[in-house]
Amino acid sequence: MADIDLRTDQPHSARMYDYLLGGKDHYVVDGEAAEKALTPFPMLRTAARENRKFLGRAVRHLVREAGIRQFLDLGSGLPTAENVHQVAQSVAPDARVVYVDNDPIVLVHGSALLAKDDRTAVIQGDIRDPRSVLDHDKTRELIDFDQPVGVLAVAVLHFVGDAEDPDGIVRTLREAVPAGSHVILSHATADIAPEEAMGVQRAYRSQGVPLTLRTKERFAEFFDGMELIDPGIQVVSDWRATVPESERPRHADVSWYGGIGRLG
Ligand SMILES: C[S@@+](CC[C@H](N)C(=O)[O-])C[C@H]1O[C@@H](n2cnc3c(N)ncnc32)[C@H](O)[C@@H]1O
Repeated sequence: MADIDLRTDQPHSARMYDYLLGGKDHYVVDGEAAEKALTPFPMLRTAARENRKFLGRAVRHLVREAGIRQFLDLGSGLPTAENVHQVAQSVAPDARVVYVDNDPIVLVHGSALLAKDDRTAVIQGDIRDPRSVLDHDKTRELIDFDQPVGVLAVAVLHFVGDAEDPDGIVRTLREAVPAGSHVILSHATADIAPEEAMGVQRAYRSQGVPLTLRTKERFAEFFDGMELIDPGIQVVSDWRATVPESERPRHADVSWYGGIGRLG
């Protein structure tokens, strides 16, 4: 791994997200870039944390209620609290997880921290080339495509532009897994706080990080061909929330949708 170029001279979404979550695996450029997005949207840290909590609740739900034992986590991000394998294996110790991210730093840090056992692997891959992720040796080793799979693309499709065919990506993933599989998605939006959220989009784009916010209707299209699990598409902080509404942040401060689709 010695010759991996981490591009510490330009911000990357994985490390900016790590900064927002209060992690340590980012560089000065990432912190500066995230601060520029915090100016128009000061609650972005809350939004990131709520997205992360949604991810945990969604995975727990799939393990407990849907009996899912294997996960493909695309755009997994840097190791943080409650990583997918920790959540899944706390309920089902035999659960298997393949983490996929296109940022080489995730491979470097993730290999040490996420792939500690033979049920977990981290691979460098690009969601825009889903076939190569599905065909990767490690994916084939850990995921049995004859059994239901939990596919995650959480907070990553908004880094895929319309010209890069995000619908085709989700379709390819969906078609690769059998009935009973579930797809967990989340996505940032400008529906609720348009000015603030578009400020984030501008801040990311102006620093070379492509971000495309989408409406609820547009987000819902990613679930075409799937049955939405109750309660459907929600602001992530509301999706099967475990705290009362009075303790949840305002929707405007989250501005992130999430949901789970089930393949029949
Ligand atoms: C906001 S983080 C989300 C991390 C995690 N899924 C979560 O929701 O907590 C987005 C992640 O997607 C990754 N990413 C962005 N574009 C990607 C691509 N084309 N292929 C794979 N990963 C990508 C980034 O490197 C980053 O780690």
